[in-house]
Formats: sequence, C-alpha cells, structure tokens
Amino acid sequence: MNAIKRSYRLCSLLLIQILLLFGFYTHVISGSVYDTFLECMSNRNSSDHVSSVIYNPNNSSYISTLQAYIRNKRFNTSSTPKPVIIVTPLHETHVQSTIVCSKNMGMNLRIRSGGHDFEGLSYVSNVTFVLLDMSNLRSISVDIEEETATVQVGATIGELYYNIWKKSKVHAFPAGVCPTVGVGGHISGGGYGVLMRKYGLTVDNIIDATIVDVNGSVFNRTLMGEDLFWAIRGGGGASFGVVLSFKLQLVRVPENVTVFRVSKTLEENATDIVNRWQYVADKIDKDLFVRLNLKPDNTKNTIHASFTAFFLGNPERLVSVMTTGFPELGIQKNDCKSMSWIESELFWSSNVKNPVEILLERSRFSAKFAKRKSDYLQTPIPRDGIESLWRKMLELRVVELVLNPYGGRMSEIGDHETPFPHRAGNIFKIEYSVNWDEEGAVAKGYYLNQTRVLYEFMTPFVSKNPRGAYLNYRDLDIGTGVVGNNSYTDGKVYGEKYFKGNFDRLVKVKTMVDGDNFFTNEQSIPCLTSRRMKMVK
Ligand SMILES: Cc1cc2nc3c(=O)[nH]c(=O)nc-3n(C[C@H](O)[C@H](O)[C@H](O)COP(=O)(O)OP(=O)(O)OC[C@H]3O[C@@H](n4cnc5c(N)ncnc54)[C@H](O)[C@@H]3O)c2cc1C
Ligand SMILES: *[C@@H]1O[C@H](CO)[C@@H](O)[C@H](O)[C@H]1NC(C)=O
Ligand SMILES: *[C@@H]1O[C@H](CO)[C@@H](O)[C@H](O)[C@H]1NC(C)=O
Ligand SMILES: *[C@@H]1O[C@H](CO)[C@@H](O)[C@H](O)[C@H]1NC(C)=O
Ligand SMILES: *[C@@H]1O[C@H](CO)[C@@H](O)[C@H](O)[C@H]1NC(C)=O
Ligand SMILES: *[C@@H]1O[C@H](CO)[C@@H](O)[C@H](O)[C@H]1NC(C)=O
Ligand SMILES: *[C@@H]1O[C@H](CO)[C@@H](O)[C@H](O)[C@H]1NC(C)=O
Ligand SMILES: *[C@@H]1O[C@H](CO)[C@@H](O)[C@H](O)[C@H]1NC(C)=O
Ligand SMILES: *[C@@H]1O[C@H](CO)[C@@H](O)[C@H](O)[C@H]1NC(C)=O
Ligand SMILES: *[C@@H]1O[C@H](CO)[C@@H](O)[C@H](O)[C@H]1NC(C)=O
Ligand SMILES: *[C@@H]1O[C@H](CO)[C@@H](O)[C@H](O)[C@H]1NC(C)=O
Ligand SMILES: *[C@@H]1O[C@H](CO)[C@@H](O)[C@H](O)[C@H]1NC(C)=O
Repeated sequence: MNAIKRSYRLCSLLLIQILLLFGFYTHVISGSVYDTFLECMSNRNSSDHVSSVIYNPNNSSYISTLQAYIRNKRFNTSSTPKPVIIVTPLHETHVQSTIVCSKNMGMNLRIRSGGHDFEGLSYVSNVTFVLLDMSNLRSISVDIEEETATVQVGATIGELYYNIWKKSKVHAFPAGVCPTVGVGGHISGGGYGVLMRKYGLTVDNIIDATIVDVNGSVFNRTLMGEDLFWAIRGGGGASFGVVLSFKLQLVRVPENVTVFRVSKTLEENATDIVNRWQYVADKIDKDLFVRLNLKPDNTKNTIHASFTAFFLGNPERLVSVMTTGFPELGIQKNDCKSMSWIESELFWSSNVKNPVEILLERSRFSAKFAKRKSDYLQTPIPRDGIESLWRKMLELRVVELVLNPYGGRMSEIGDHETPFPHRAGNIFKIEYSVNWDEEGAVAKGYYLNQTRVLYEFMTPFVSKNPRGAYLNYRDLDIGTGVVGNNSYTDGKVYGEKYFKGNFDRLVKVKTMVDGDNFFTNEQSIPCLTSRRMKMVK
C-alpha cells in the first residue's frame, strides 16, 4: 500500500513536470520517422543488425508482416490505419529498445502476440503508432518433473498444447480452444477453455512472468512485485507493459477424456432442455463442461441448440453423471467418444481425424469479418423469456449465442484474487457471435447492428450495475477512452464492466507503473489523474 501511495505522489509530480514541459517542448521528428527510429534503435544496440527487424511501409515485406496476424477482416481494409513502423523482435533487448524509442518519439505502441483481439486493438490505432509484433518470441519449455511450462508470449496455445503433449499424456493447461490464439493476449486477458470448471482460468494457474516496463527494464515476479503481477493476470497486459513470458502451472488430466456433441431443435424439445441446462450446467460434477451453442435456422424456422461436452473421465461415468444430473438430454454411451486430451482439443477446434501437428499451423485460420459481445447470467432466463429469445433470434437471423457454464473451480476463487471478477454467482457467460463474408460498409452496419439489437434485447435477463463483460471478448461498444489521454471517468465505464470492483486496484497499479500513460489504447486502464502522453499526430 505504501508503494501505491508513493506512486500517487510520483504520478502527480510527473504531471506537474509534463505540464511545465507542455508549453515549450514538442516532439519534433526530423527527417523520416523511420530514420530517427532506426537511429535510436541502432544507438542502443550497435552490435546488433537491428534494421533487419524494423519495417517501414516501403519495405516489400511490410504488408505481409502486418497481415500475417490480422485475424478479422474488419481490420484488413485499405482504410484501416497502418503502423508507421513494425518491429518484430528477436531478443528481449529489441523489445526494451522499441519501448524506449517509441516513447522518446511520442509514438503510440501497439503490442501484438497472436492478433486475435476482436477489435484489432493490438494492431490498429487512430494515432501515429509503432506495431510491436511478438510472433518471433515463442519458445516453450516444459518441465514435467516440476509440472510447469515457461512460454513466451508469441507462442500460440496450439503450440503450447502440442509441446505439453510431447512430454506427457497426462498433463494439460486450462486455456482456450482455438489453437492459433496467442499466449500474450489470451493469458493477460483472462483466458478460459473446457478445463475451466475443474481448474479455473489460465490466470489461476500462472506462477511467474517476465515483463518489460515503460523504462525498458525487465522484471520477473519478484522484481515487479505482487501488485503488477496481479494486474497482468486478467487486467490485460497492454495497459502495463510488454509481457515477455509466463510460467505456467500444468494441471493433470486422465490418459483418456470423453466428449459428446448432440443437437436439439425446437421440435425436439430444445426449449425445455435449454431451460433445464441453466439449472444444472454450473452445478454438475466439475469434471464436466457442457457448452451450449444456439443458432437460428430460418429455412426451417427453428433453433439449433447444440450441446458439446468435455469430461475428465470415461464414458460410463459420464453417462452416469448425465443420467443423474441432466437426464433431459438423454445422453447414452454411444453419444460419447473416448480420446486423449490432445485429441479432444482437435475435437473442439477442428476434427479428431486431423494429425496432432495441425496445432502447430499458425496460418491455419480462415478469417471472416467478425464481431463479438459478452454478458453474464446470474439468474436463469424464465421459460417464456427463452421463447421470446427464439423469436428474436429468428427475426435477427444472423446472431449466434455461445453459452459457457461457470461454477466448480470458478466459484471457489474470490472475485479479487485476480482482476477477472466474474466468479461465484455467475451461472454462465454469453458470447454473441457474428461472422460474415460480404464486403463493404452496408453489410458491416447490418451485422454490427444485429448484435447490438440482441444485446439490448437481453438486458432484462443479464447481470446489472455493472453489466458484466469479458475482456478477451473485446467490445468497443461498451465504452472507450481517448488514446493517450484516457480519463478515469471514461475508463470506469468499460473498466467496471470488465473488472467490477477490481477496476480501482488496476488504476492504482497503472498509476504506479506507467504514470505517464505510455501504454494506451481505447480501452486501456487510465491513470488516477487524467494523463496525456505527448504524441505526434
Ligand atoms: C477464433 C478465436 C477463438 C477464441 N477462443 C477463445 C477461447 O476459447 N477462450 C478465450 O478465453 N478467448 C478466446 N478468444 C479470445 C482471445 O482470448 C483474445 O482475443 C486474446 O486477447 C487473444 O490473444 P492474442 O495474443 O491472440 O491477441 P492480440 O490481438 O495479439 O492481443 C490482445 C490484447 O492483448 C494485448 N497484448 C498482446 N500481447 C501482449 C503482450 N505480450 N504484452 C502486453 N499486452 C499484450 C494486445 O495489445 C491487445 O490489447 C478467441 C478469439 C478468437 C479470434
Ligand atoms: C541492446 O540495448 C540494450 C540497452 O542498451 C542492451 O542492454 C543490450 O545488451 C543490447 N543488446 C544487444 C543484442 O546488443
Ligand atoms: C527496410 O528497408 C530498409 C531500407 O529502406 C532496410 O535497411 C531494412 O533492412 C528493411 N527492413 C527489413 C525488415 O527488411
Ligand atoms: C518511401 O519511399 C518514398 C518514395 O521513394 C520516399 O519518398 C519515402 O521517404 C520513403 N519512406 C520511408 C519511410 O523510407
Ligand atoms: C488481408 O488481405 C489480404 C489481401 O490484401 C489477404 O491476402 C489476406 O488473406 C487478408 N487477411 C485477412 C485476415 O483477411
Ligand atoms: C478510428 O477512426 C475511425 C474514423 O474516424 C472510426 O470509425 C473508428 O471507430 C476509430 N477507431 C477507434 C478504434 O477508435
Ligand atoms: C528474478 O530476477 C532476479 C534478478 O535477476 C533473480 O535473482 C531471481 O532469481 C529471479 N526470480 C525468479 C523466480 O526467477
Ligand atoms: C485410452 O484409450 C486408448 C485408445 O482408445 C486405449 O488403448 C487405452 O487403454 C485407454 N487408456 C485408459 C487408461 O483407459
Ligand atoms: C418432448 O417432451 C414431451 C413431453 O415432455 C415428450 O412426450 C416427447 O417425447 C418429447 N419429444 C422429444 C422429441 O423428445
Ligand atoms: C437495427 O436492426 C433493427 C432490427 O433488425 C432495425 O429495426 C433497426 O432499424 C436497425 N438499425 C440500424 C441503425 O440499422
Ligand atoms: C485530457 O483529458 C482531460 C480530461 O478529460 C481534459 O481536460 C484535457 O483537456 C485533455 N488534454 C488534452 C491535451 O487533450
Ligand atoms: C522510469 O524512469 C523515470 C525516470 O528515471 C522514473 O522517474 C520512473 O520512476 C521510472 N518508472 C518506473 C515505473 O520505474
């Protein structure tokens, strides 16, 4: 706490200094931005051929480097703002220098690991910006004796899973489903997957991290202190520094797990079964995770309710758990498939028939135009509410909902233990999902509007004051701040949705470690006092 108080004082001192400087100090970039930047980088790393990792728009590989990790066509257009410089570090010293040189030149920095941010915040900015692309920093080391893994942020979770599996068939890590998702954003933003009810989130299983701060210094957990270590486990890395790596606590899984996927239409009593799911999915045995996908089918005028399950046990026990806890779904042994944990990852993300090596394919991603929103449910939707939801989804045609049950381990972890606050009391999270192929502004307006209309419709059913949201389903509709001058009041609007009562502690940590608000984006954590990072236009 003393450190935090001291940092308040530090923050105000810095504010005064900046105000003093404001009148007569402006960032002048003489010559080209690139030359100045390259000079700064080279001065710091003269022995190193640093120019081979710095791209300007004239470099022939600038566009392919930029596009390699764009995962949403909405931000792949000619009018999408582009970085003046891209750096693809090979050493942590390149990261250190990039921070210092960008800051010296008053340029916004965007940090990209896997590029899956749903609003493109890791590689798009409306002010002059440098893109720090972490994809080359992706080493993974797994220590089965110690049951840990150390993974650099540029690795994908598919690579992480593959490397764990190579060493042990009975260890895993509780992260997401899509193998191309990047470790850097996924873990610093929370990160959940099918092991969530048993083991919690990614951030509940992190034991150390390394980060480069605003001054270019590298810290591990001991050196950064528990406040910052707390903040980067769910508060989003991008507000605090550049995370280089995480050390993970591996978890144990049986040699074989069991999965099933069954789908029901309205004619097959989907309404009753979905209604029932709300009362059991968060309370059932925590070895079991049953996701529910809801999809409108306008040609047949029905809803497809698809139940996909992951179970840490064999089919016999799964059938028994289902028969006792959720008989309405009528699961029998022949609905179930037994397989190794790594095969179950393929089952969820693609197809069990694929070779395991497919998890290593970084470019295996078919990008569409995409938008996501999120909500939390604390009381079940009444049956007539479910029926009105079906009518709304059929009217809107294009929005699908993905319902992920909580409970189990998620309810055992306190709301304040990590910045991720949506723990006990939440039955499930809703993901609103639309993907489309049609180019252009009209289609975009249409699809975005459909998600907003459904979100509005759901208001009476979902969490309130604040209406919860999941950081990793980044959604700029819930509020934004001014890049470089994020205010506490703007930040509180989206910050309390993502972090509830943890927002203020995140602000304190932010003020302590980045009082000048260098690490800024539309939804970054603000400093206590509104701070303006001096930036070139
Ligand atoms: C197809 C798909 C499937 C998904 N499935 C799941 C899922 O199963 N479970 C789940 O929880 N989420 C899921 N997500 C959401 C995903 O977890 C988030 O989008 C996550 O932030 C992506 O991490 P990234 O490194 O790929 O993204 P990026 O776009 O690179 O980064 C996301 C954010 O983190 C910041 N950041 C990235 N790296 C660093 C770093 N090294 N230091 C500091 N800040 C950093 C970025 O600046 C940005 O603000 C999915 C997303 C997609 C597109
Ligand atoms: C790069 O510069 C940093 C800071 O000056 C220094 O610590 C580091 O050793 C340099 N790295 C290389 C590879 O030259
Ligand atoms: C980009 O072009 C400059 C010359 O304009 C060159 O020095 C630099 O090495 C190139 N960068 C990369 C990454 O190829
Ligand atoms: C890119 O090339 C153009 C035309 O040759 C030149 O005017 C411009 O200065 C170059 N930009 C950079 C960043 O090198
Ligand atoms: C982005 O556009 C380029 C063409 O300019 C295309 O090759 C690439 O596949 C696109 N990427 C995404 C994610 O849409
Ligand atoms: C950037 O500016 C464009 C055009 O002004 C706007 O449509 C877009 O929403 C802005 N993006 C962000 C992330 O603020
Ligand atoms: C953290 O870094 C310090 C200084 O480099 C080192 O002494 C310490 O052993 C590190 N801690 C861990 C857990 O690695
Ligand atoms: C796991 O499944 C494989 C293949 O189906 C089987 O050979 C093996 O005996 C199973 N292991 C256990 C512990 O059930
Ligand atoms: C739907 O439920 C009714 C009554 O609960 C039952 O009679 C009927 O068989 C069920 N239909 C299907 C397809 O399961
Ligand atoms: C959004 O969609 C709703 C329902 O489909 C429609 O009534 C409304 O006019 C649309 N709004 C905009 C701005 O397109
Ligand atoms: C920064 O934001 C504060 C509060 O919103 C505002 O009063 C101030 O004028 C802004 N400063 C600049 C330079 O935009
Ligand atoms: C960064 O360096 C400045 C100037 O030396 C110092 O005032 C500030 O406290 C440092 N920031 C952190 C987070 O250590």
